Amino acid sequence: CRRALAPQDYRDLVVLVTAGGTREPLDPVRYIGNYSSGKMGYALARAAWERGARVTLITASPLPPPPEVEVVRVQTAAEMLAALEERFTGADIVLKAAAVADFRPVARAAQKIKKGQQGELIIHLEPTVDILACLSRMKERQILVGFAAETEDLLANAGQKLRDKQLDLIVANDVTRPGAGFGSETNIVTFLFPGGRKEELPQLPKLEVAHRILDAVTTLSRFPGR
Ligand code: CTP
Ligand code: CA
Repeated sequence: CRRALAPQDYRDLVVLVTAGGTREPLDPVRYIGNYSSGKMGYALARAAWERGARVTLITASPLPPPPEVEVVRVQTAAEMLAALEERFTGADIVLKAAAVADFRPVARAAQKIKKGQQGELIIHLEPTVDILACLSRMKERQILVGFAAETEDLLANAGQKLRDKQLDLIVANDVTRPGAGFGSETNIVTFLFPGGRKEELPQLPKLEVAHRILDAVTTLSRFPGR
């Protein structure tokens, strides 16, 4: 059993992990979403459990979650925020791997939108809540780890998110690289820390990336017990 072999440096720490791509309903049969599979978040949940943490996985992914951890299923950004807010005071570490839909339909049609005779359909969208920015404002002892999914200017964009959302660590990945990002079994990531420290990882299976992220979190001065 991997749990017996892993270091127990997260023993009894309360870790919240978010996973998957949130979905914003348009009508009873359609939603706005993204290609996130949830695999990176699931790997983080599993890795934190292996290291002794008390893990809650808040997931918008339809994949079966790791059996060892507590699971909360959500669909929208608002539901994901509510699930986090409920548990935030008691949490030590939040790992925000979910790909949150940035926009949602202003109105949700009560019935299926019919194609009818209309040549085009115009959907009005409004921004969803920025969950990490909200959590940053509530932050006390909690360590916040964000992800940055980028298609260009990886380090500049990820660095900006690290500062804007006042994170303790951001895990940057270029989702256009083969072997990285959405749906892949592996990932290629770079860690950016608030002081300007940077660490580039090679292509690794997502469970290995997850353990490296947990290793990086233990180096933070705010890590409990340091
Ligand atoms: N995030 C969030 N709430 C949102 C959008 C994103 O908490 N409404 C979190 C994601 O879970 C991730 C981090 O913010 O940990 C960065 O997400 P990303 O989509 O890369 O960045 P955005 O801030 O949404 O900016 P953009 O999509 O425009 O690049
Ligand atoms: Ca986004």
